[in-house]
Amino acid sequence: MAPKTNGIGVQVEDTRICVVMVGLPARGKSYIAQKGKQLSFVLVTSSPGKLRHGPGEPVAPVRRCRPGARALRDLADKLPAQRYLKWLSIPAKTFNVGNYRRNDAPHPSADFFDTKNAEGERKRRAAAEAAVADMLKWFKEEKGVVGILDATNSTKERRKWVIDLVEKEGVEVIFVESKCDDEELIMANIRDVKTTSPDYKGQDPEKAALDFRERIRNYEKVYKSVNEDGDEDHLTYLKIMNVGRQVIINRIRDYLQSRIVYYLMNLHIRPRSVWLSRHGESMLNIEGRIGGDAGLSYRGEEYARKLPELVLESVGSDRPLTVWTSTLKRTIATARHLPKHYNQLQWKALDELDAGVCDGMTYQEIADQYPEDFQARDDDKYNYRYRGGESYRDVVIRLEPIIMELERSEDILIISHQAVIRCIYAYFMQKTQEESPWVPVPLHTLMKLTPRAYGTEVQTYKANIKAVSTWRGKGSTAKHEDPAPEGGV
Ligand code: ADP
Ligand code: F6P
Ligand code: PEP
Repeated sequence: MAPKTNGIGVQVEDTRICVVMVGLPARGKSYIAQKGKQLSFVLVTSSPGKLRHGPGEPVAPVRRCRPGARALRDLADKLPAQRYLKWLSIPAKTFNVGNYRRNDAPHPSADFFDTKNAEGERKRRAAAEAAVADMLKWFKEEKGVVGILDATNSTKERRKWVIDLVEKEGVEVIFVESKCDDEELIMANIRDVKTTSPDYKGQDPEKAALDFRERIRNYEKVYKSVNEDGDEDHLTYLKIMNVGRQVIINRIRDYLQSRIVYYLMNLHIRPRSVWLSRHGESMLNIEGRIGGDAGLSYRGEEYARKLPELVLESVGSDRPLTVWTSTLKRTIATARHLPKHYNQLQWKALDELDAGVCDGMTYQEIADQYPEDFQARDDDKYNYRYRGGESYRDVVIRLEPIIMELERSEDILIISHQAVIRCIYAYFMQKTQEESPWVPVPLHTLMKLTPRAYGTEVQTYKANIKAVSTWRGKGSTAKHEDPAPEGGV
């Protein structure tokens, strides 16, 4: 489908993309596919619809936003009142052919994957057909935008077959191939994730690793890298060689494709963690007031002094760390006592959600002065935009550069604010839009997130310094509702 843009690079017509993974087993395809799913969190597109905003106000003016977001909002302002722009996260879903195949062949040995094995061939073909059929159904019935076909797709014939089926439905195809000839890394990948695969349930890990190596040998007999013979040059593809040491990009056609490629190019697999902390308790936190630019309370200062100890306990003393704060006083003060050799950077994008006209108010004051707004926020907290301020969705949009930079980086400590930390946490933990604005993120707590092949691990470190609770349950106007429910951070 020909992409249409409105002249500022923003997609205005629905583009649908099928990302087809390519590569031998244990090349990180599922890992990349999973990251692709996380990407849906930061990709936004626009379509006509009704925007959730402060009642009585068409589209709220916005004070702080990055240029791209401003351009989008200007566009929103120009639309007729009943056709407000609705921000949509791009729905993405992965279809893993191995999972379909397991229905029919749950514990195959290496020879199942030999192309001379007729039964194996038939079952693998059936699994691929079922996965593609489900994906096409999802595009059609659930308005999917980015479907990821996670399989080896390692022959030209298989790729042609996918293109024919998918393009017929008006869906663009982009191949993402991971090529890797680092034997040591591949054996490490096999031990890391393949020996615990359901394919080898109950089997000895050493035997499983040997069988998986044999499985790869069978794939190698027929594997053709994309455009290896020069006759697939018309295809759109991204080839990632040896975990990004070299990247080939071919015929990227539109805005959404280029955003996907940019993101995937920045992924790396070096082990690293992201530490998250809110600032120490602030004077406004004590009063139960939101927003503002207050300094730390006495207990907040105590947390700032304790933070280096928590960080060193979790990070270790010999690992370099980069610290990102917002531009507000309370996060900068919280970072003040960290070791001098840590690089520190202030990001405006990490400033707290802008509460607009409600900045500096208590929840009770908001409920009294703007009862409809208070209710509207509880009804749809993710989309509700404060008059003259932001919604959670707006915050996610402005966090895109932060997410991109985080994916490129090694160890980072982010000191930010309740709403912003919730959004970053939601990205890593794949929380839904309904859940994320309610996640408890207590003060005086350090959190360590470690992305792994199939999800993110979380560890928390409590400073044991008392602080008020700023968590608020639906309907409540309490100044300090305590305690927040279990299940968050
Ligand atoms: P596949 O889906 O290709 O069989 P997996 O995604 O299940 O492989 O393998 C995951 C392992 O591959 C993880 O240990 C991960 O760190 C590693 N990995 C991720 N990306 C890459 C890459 N580009 N090249 C090689 N290995 C990778
Ligand atoms: O109360 C602290 C605070 O960071 C406010 O500045 C901010 O408006 C609020 O939390 C965000 O939390 P919620 O979205 O639950 O109101
Ligand atoms: C599988 O069966 O695990 C698989 C990935 O299938 P294919 O190689 O046929 O895509």
